[in-house]
Amino acid sequence: MRGSSLAVKGAVLLVAVFVVFKFGAPLVTAPLPMSLIWLYLFLTTVGIVVYGTLSGESTEALLGPIFRFLGGEGLNGVAQLARLAVLVLFPLLVGWETYSDLVPSSQPPAENRTIHPAPPGEFVGLANPVPNTPENVMMGKGLFAAFCSPCHGPKFNGNGPASDGFNPPPANFVDPGTIAQLQESYLFWRIKKGGVGLNVEGHPWKSAMPRWEVELPDEWIWKIIMAEYAGSGQKPRTWE
Ligand code: HEC
Repeated sequence: MRGSSLAVKGAVLLVAVFVVFKFGAPLVTAPLPMSLIWLYLFLTTVGIVVYGTLSGESTEALLGPIFRFLGGEGLNGVAQLARLAVLVLFPLLVGWETYSDLVPSSQPPAENRTIHPAPPGEFVGLANPVPNTPENVMMGKGLFAAFCSPCHGPKFNGNGPASDGFNPPPANFVDPGTIAQLQESYLFWRIKKGGVGLNVEGHPWKSAMPRWEVELPDEWIWKIIMAEYAGSGQKPRTWE
């Protein structure tokens, strides 16, 4: 009988496709992601169903055994047990999958970001054109107090009154890992363009750092930069 074996053939084909992609593929190339293997299995299933339902006879050959198994008519003891197991375990499996997809996890999402991505070319190697005089630093500190301290803190340590809500937090300029690692031209870029101006390596992160190029003239920005270094006790990085 060509008939009854069609469902079995389909099952064997699905297992073969799974084995080949899951275990065969890694021998010749990189392991395939499970989502891709599911896609292949799905397409194979579609192929089997299309082929199996071409005629009434083949439809019966494909679906008949499945319906008879699930319906339970004329099955012997072992087959009855197998049927019971399928009927109980399948809903449990679907339930478990759904549950584990939906259950909230305390694991933070994996984030891969470059904290200090390379600045765009036009910002590389700019020198601060404003002379480093006490008056200029003074004015920079005033501007910093007005525009930056709500987030970066009056003490330059990232502890401003508005800092709590942001992730990533506003940079702590006293920490030797922030502006002490950077050249003045780099700060000029970050202040002018803000979080939205970060390039792709800087993502994914939702930086609250504003883009200041409209509000602050370049000269003010350079003064603020001087004030940030003076106020935090750090020195800009120079390329020796
Ligand atoms: C709304 C809050 C907020 C304000 C106001 C703000 N910043 Fe920021 N700033 C941030 C956050 C958050 C970050 C960290 C994420 C990032 O680097 O984009 C940051 C980062 C920076 C960095 C990068 C430091 C590093 O190590 O890469 C500099 C420089 C900076 N801010 C300067 C300023 C200056 C100057 C002002 C005022 C003109 C200012 N910020 C105003 C939130 C703010």
